[in-house]
Amino acid sequence: MTTDLFSPIQLGRYHLPNRIIMAPLTRNRAGAGNVPQALNVLYYEQRASAGLIISEATQISPHGVGYPATPGIHSAEQIAGWKQVTQAVHAKGGRIFLQLWHTGRISHPSLLPNGEQPVSASAIAAEGMASTYEGEQPFVAPRALETTEIPTIIEMYRQGAANALEAGFDGVEVHNANGYLLDQFLRDGVNQRTDAYGGSIANRARLPLAVLEAVIEVWGADRVGIRLSPSSTFNSMSDSDPEQHFGYFVEQLNRYNLAYLHLLEPSESDLRHGGKPVPTSYFRPLYHGNLMVNWDYDFAQGQAVIANGEADLVSYGKLFISNPDLPERFRRNAPLTPFDPATFYGGGAVGYTDYPSLPDSSVPDSSLQDSSLQEQQISS
Ligand SMILES: Cc1cc2nc3c(=O)[nH]c(=O)nc-3n(C[C@H](O)[C@H](O)[C@H](O)COP(=O)(O)O)c2cc1C
Repeated sequence: MTTDLFSPIQLGRYHLPNRIIMAPLTRNRAGAGNVPQALNVLYYEQRASAGLIISEATQISPHGVGYPATPGIHSAEQIAGWKQVTQAVHAKGGRIFLQLWHTGRISHPSLLPNGEQPVSASAIAAEGMASTYEGEQPFVAPRALETTEIPTIIEMYRQGAANALEAGFDGVEVHNANGYLLDQFLRDGVNQRTDAYGGSIANRARLPLAVLEAVIEVWGADRVGIRLSPSSTFNSMSDSDPEQHFGYFVEQLNRYNLAYLHLLEPSESDLRHGGKPVPTSYFRPLYHGNLMVNWDYDFAQGQAVIANGEADLVSYGKLFISNPDLPERFRRNAPLTPFDPATFYGGGAVGYTDYPSLPDSSVPDSSLQDSSLQEQQISS
């Protein structure tokens, strides 16, 4: 039998009913104090038929905030808010990991405690504009973290991971992609340090791996994933040799037996911005565990990449925004609702919880394995 998106899979500690994963999606709709609220509970609950939900990026500390109205996992109120989310997803038979986030230089003093300067590997400002409560403002030059401050950063991740456990998540994904703090350390376009955390790739990988190990101590490796974007130029990122550097890093990950490695494919925008594209297929032979791929996949492309063995799972972002029952739509070959980028970031229920599911698609995924029931569903 061919393996496809509907084939169950063992992902670390969990048995997933399908390989259609909800990608992490920042939606800027947290309540006051960056606390998840009832609207967010409904949004995640609606998407519980994903093989796994990966939450929107969630700051581990007030010092790691980079955008307005993004949720945190550092206060008692935030933990309580997330508990409502995890309970609702579990009640629908789903599973949800939290994406652990520190934005580093992709921030602004107005978003940080006491108007402090953002931190990074080196004092190099990102190009472009920060999103703030007062609108877009130019990125400021960050402050390079002192070597003596690194243990505090690792501790922030450990505490964020422990808080996610308390909030009832099923696991965590370390956000090491898209130009945020850990990526700022990993890639030599930003990391110009001369201490043990800069220079060689082994040194640049030191903080990301130390964070991963701290998080694993809390969760066990079989409930931890990591996300990487080797080719991405987003947030003015670059690397002199992503093939060699990320190749090294991915091989290091083999030591841990993680739940999964989540890789972003090169995008057209990366090519336009001078990125050096490395397809995820390059990393397939280097990594020995479950590989999740992402970027602009449609149903047919997702089916193909699983069937030909280039990946074990596919995560979908934008399609999950506008199709809360995406696995069922794929299964029925039903039309997909188009997404509206104007409502991606911020606002209320419009473009968030008002995208419809197909009639009857609240039926748990596993019961649809029975083909007679499936036919009944399709005809009703
Ligand atoms: C609205 C929006 C918010 C996003 N937020 C996050 C995020 O919080 N963390 C992250 O790692 N990637 C984030 N991404 C990237 C997506 O996870 C994904 O990589 C991207 O949308 C490409 O996949 P897709 O073509 O299936 O949408 C975001 C993308 C979009 C469109």
